[in-house]
Amino acid sequence: MACRDMDKAEAAQKEIIENSGNSNIVTRKLDLSDTKSIREFAELINSEEKQVNILINNAGIMMCPYSKTTDGFEMQFGVNHLGHFLLTFLMIDLLKRSRPARIINLSSMAHKWGRIQLEDIHSERSYHSRRAYGQSKLANILSTRSLAERLKDTGVTVYAVHPGIVRTDLKRHMNLALLISWKIVRPFTKTVEQGAQTSIYCAVERKLETESGGYYSDCKPSRCTSAARDDEMAEKLWKLSCQMLGITWD
Ligand SMILES: NC(=O)c1ccc[n+]([C@@H]2O[C@H](COP(=O)([O-])OP(=O)(O)OC[C@H]3O[C@@H](n4cnc5c(N)ncnc54)[C@H](OP(=O)(O)O)[C@@H]3O)[C@@H](O)[C@H]2O)c1
Repeated sequence: MACRDMDKAEAAQKEIIENSGNSNIVTRKLDLSDTKSIREFAELINSEEKQVNILINNAGIMMCPYSKTTDGFEMQFGVNHLGHFLLTFLMIDLLKRSRPARIINLSSMAHKWGRIQLEDIHSERSYHSRRAYGQSKLANILSTRSLAERLKDTGVTVYAVHPGIVRTDLKRHMNLALLISWKIVRPFTKTVEQGAQTSIYCAVERKLETESGGYYSDCKPSRCTSAARDDEMAEKLWKLSCQMLGITWD
């Protein structure tokens, strides 16, 4: 488990070991808002692990006040998209050597809220926390599509997931109006166990061996918006992401 807060990581590790009886649970420090931390984490994993078969890019931050990552990226775009994009890039050779391997990118139905603002990707001219979250989750689906193309015939497949509306801490930055709406929909929301099911499905379901690049919800393929199926934009985003991170990934 890659976590930014090692106290929380240790508590989660203890709980998993107690509940599963599996003591082989390892925690390592990773702060996705800092490319130095991502590089250090990847270096450690690449040296420690002979094999990685499943990478779940799960971390996320939603609708926070305007802020920037250590590298100057808008926080939601920086953590939710660029952080995972760099992490995947740094682990891709290990994943390929471990084939069959799968990458799961946590997106959201909230990809509908945003568009890719190539001309103001860090929302410096105007910031709307909900739209910026939408942009980052749209970027997750577009980069999943582009990555699937690049990974053809490598034995590594990739999936984007909407987990449902799940009772987690994600709503920590929501304003009062949204928290009230949240209370209204709460009876229809998922527990964390239910919310994890589509990620698990994409990670292990045999039927998906021959599928890659799609968007899933409720343990089945789901329809995303036309903006999320725009392969031209996906390529532009890919190039821009590489440029911002100073990497070459053709
Ligand atoms: N909950 C929903 O209804 C919902 C709906 C659609 C999509 N999603 C997506 O599902 C994923 C999981 O979210 P969740 O609902 O489980 O929310 P959550 O309870 O807030 O969990 C998010 C996790 O991301 C970690 N994180 C945030 N910033 C990080 C950083 N800079 N570096 C490393 N880790 C970081 C958090 O770490 P800390 O514990 O240290 O804060 C937390 O463990 C997200 O990608 C989210 O966008 C959730």
